[in-house]
Amino acid sequence: MRMTGAAIAEDGFIYALRRVTEAAARAAFDWIGRGRKDEGDAAAVDAMRTVLNHLDIDGRIVIGEGEKDEAPQLYKGERLGHGGGLAVDIAVDPVDGTSHLANGQTNALAAVAMTPQGAMFDPGPAFYMEKFAGPPAVKGRIDPLAPTRDKLKVLAQALGKPVSDLSVYVLEKPRHRRLVEEIHAAGARVALYPAGDVAGAIVAAMPGGEVDCLMGTGGTPEGVLAACAIRALGGEFLGRLDPQLEHERAAVAHAGLDTRRWWGVEELVRSDKVWFAATGITTGMLFEGVSRRGPSTRTQSLMLTAPDRQWQVLTTYVETALLGPGPGQAQEARP
Ligand code: FBP
Repeated sequence: MRMTGAAIAEDGFIYALRRVTEAAARAAFDWIGRGRKDEGDAAAVDAMRTVLNHLDIDGRIVIGEGEKDEAPQLYKGERLGHGGGLAVDIAVDPVDGTSHLANGQTNALAAVAMTPQGAMFDPGPAFYMEKFAGPPAVKGRIDPLAPTRDKLKVLAQALGKPVSDLSVYVLEKPRHRRLVEEIHAAGARVALYPAGDVAGAIVAAMPGGEVDCLMGTGGTPEGVLAACAIRALGGEFLGRLDPQLEHERAAVAHAGLDTRRWWGVEELVRSDKVWFAATGITTGMLFEGVSRRGPSTRTQSLMLTAPDRQWQVLTTYVETALLGPGPGQAQEARP
């Protein structure tokens, strides 16, 4: 591929963006396994927002921590950045897996995605989304309305292996009892995880990953973030708003949103320009978590860009003493 000046400039941007999730992950680090998910999340939010505000962007949060009255920082509609540079929509998840962070379990990560302004799907009041995520080989070939058995057959054909060799990522939730039975009946394996479907969707879209696809209902914000990553990977992502809570059902109906409609990845991310970065907080499917050994703090991050479809994994070492007492590092704030 010919390297243009714009592509070189954008390479620089993804390196700047990974600092956003590195900062969030490092800030969350001190809260791993302390049973206090709100404090861990707040530390990551604060660190993420600080770095976002240093970027040369005119940014607008589309997927954030909630509406302004319930989230003082990184709320939907908040403007971030210097105000010049790229005009972008932003999706953030400072901690995907807040209870995993609090319980010291696997797969907690910090993630951010950006697209040109106006390109990112705004799910309104919908908290939950039914999802299908898979690798590039299956793109455009999955009928979301088809039975589970048929979807798995198409996937197996596309990957050139028997259905019995497929592994499907599913969140371990009571609402998925039937889905799990259907996957077993089709002959495939189920990989049940209690939380963290951003990582699950991304791994499903990476050819040769630990799982072959993701199915089931999880958060809508996590769905849009995963769709950004998968657009950059060239994989398949399909989503349908699937409200689970009484007040959510009412709000979704009031907003006139159609819960029968499946949205394709190109509708959720309406641009072929995407920047996505994620950093591990606790070690999981995608990368290792933050570790502090000797004088340095180490993080691992995934950086994805489209349209050039590059993915890079970066290990960063920072001298811990230079980080200063960040929000998650203040001794007095610890239990
Ligand atoms: P949080 O970090 O907000 O707890 O999200 C974790 C998560 O597992 C997501 O990855 C997933 O999309 C969502 O929760 C599913 O929600 P629920 O646990 O309510 O079913």
